[in-house]
Amino acid sequence: MNTQLTVVKSFGKTDDLVILADRKNNSWQDKYLSSSDIKVFKNVSRNGSSSVLIPQEKRNVIIQFLAKHSDHNITREETRLAGNDLLSFLSHYRIEEVTIVNECNLDLTSEFVEGMMLGNYQFLKYFKDKKGKSNTLSQIKIERKSIAMNQFDELNAILFATCKARDLVNEPQSYLSASQLSKEIQSIGKKSGFKVKVYKKAEIIKMKMGGLLAVNMGSISPPTFNVLEWKPKKCNNKKPIVLVGKGIVYDTGGVSLKPTANSMDMMKSDMAGAAAVIGTMSAISHAKLPLHVVALIPSTDNRPGNDAYVPGDVITMHSGSTVEVLNTDAEGRLILADALHYAKKYKPELVLDFATLTGSAMKAFGPEAICYMGNAGKTTKQKMEKSGFSVYERLIELPLWKEYGEQLKSNIADLKNLGGSSAGMITAGKFLEHFTDYPWLHFDIAGSAYLQKTDGYRTKEGTGAGVRLMFDFLKNY
Ligand code: BES
Ligand code: ZN
Ligand code: ZN
Repeated sequence: MNTQLTVVKSFGKTDDLVILADRKNNSWQDKYLSSSDIKVFKNVSRNGSSSVLIPQEKRNVIIQFLAKHSDHNITREETRLAGNDLLSFLSHYRIEEVTIVNECNLDLTSEFVEGMMLGNYQFLKYFKDKKGKSNTLSQIKIERKSIAMNQFDELNAILFATCKARDLVNEPQSYLSASQLSKEIQSIGKKSGFKVKVYKKAEIIKMKMGGLLAVNMGSISPPTFNVLEWKPKKCNNKKPIVLVGKGIVYDTGGVSLKPTANSMDMMKSDMAGAAAVIGTMSAISHAKLPLHVVALIPSTDNRPGNDAYVPGDVITMHSGSTVEVLNTDAEGRLILADALHYAKKYKPELVLDFATLTGSAMKAFGPEAICYMGNAGKTTKQKMEKSGFSVYERLIELPLWKEYGEQLKSNIADLKNLGGSSAGMITAGKFLEHFTDYPWLHFDIAGSAYLQKTDGYRTKEGTGAGVRLMFDFLKNY
């Protein structure tokens, strides 16, 4: 997080204020504005602009109007976007610190600040002149009365987690090898409170994780298999919920090499599923959710070097099933399959996997939706979709009809890793389904995890997709 966020009992006389207000109610005006200020304010606000700045002798007072829609989820999203929009307004006036005061009777401080904080995110690590590149706004204070303390704590947990997930996706492969990813997980675990166990190559060989090992064969860097665990004393679930994240730190396509433009050039983001899961573990442990959650992250890069696996190879997976590899670029499903099989030993009550799995998911839904599929019960799906609308990471369900599975039949092995030319995101899902025996949902975040240009408070490059969704789902679980 590059913006400091605090709660203050009261604000100082010289603090620049952002007053969240309702257009129809002006009972708050006398508290902050002189009679001449009010005249100016009335005049200026007539043009309908959503933010108005009144300069005073010792401070600026910015009035930010919020609007209510019949759909509360839209109200909340518009509020996040309003928080993000205010950033350019503040930057225009070169304002570095603001105190937020909520004077409208809508409980939207959290959403507004969420939009501001996420929109103000920057990844400046690799710039020489970080100061020169940095946004002007560096601190947001919230007046104590304008937010409940539990809401503030939760907001902090979500923001830290989402920004961490973005950082991880934004890190290039030149820094973020699979081993480095493990180190990052351990450091986030220490800060947030979850446990981490890292399995190295020798142990991965012992466990016969043939999918992860096959993808790693072209690499000079070893693979890792990471197990994260949050198990507080008081848990509302008897059997754990297991999260699985695709941790391909770079996807060249392997021997089935990807073209560079608009394809391989974005593939440092191929561990965004892992980032979503790591962020979720961070948020739930920060917030001390009373749930037992385990997260599994298989990780490696996918390259054509060394003894790289090639199309036509047959590999034996962790589950014992054999797979004919017909495209080395369909590597995500191979490493996920090993993790999904490993998940069986927990007898989990629910497994949720996150992956930038297919170009077809990206092409079909773009950045606006996450497609998901799986055999978990109706109530779980409904709750999940509700969380999707609530945090505005909207979901669309796709079918796993058995006919789609026909495309994965191989002449010489139990399965092949490549479907036909249609419904690629579903055949990928069908492949994963083969390795599950528990209630399960698969989320293909290829479209929403990484943006080439900023979209509202979702800043360009890594978006942290999945973290806010999962946190909301688990909080209401
Ligand atoms: N990592 C890619 C999927 C991807 C594409 C993510 C674009 C984000 C943006 C994945 O490993 C892949 O290459 N999938 C192939 C599978 C195909 C060879 C069956 C695809 O979708 O093209
Ligand atoms: Zn690939
Ligand atoms: Zn990939």
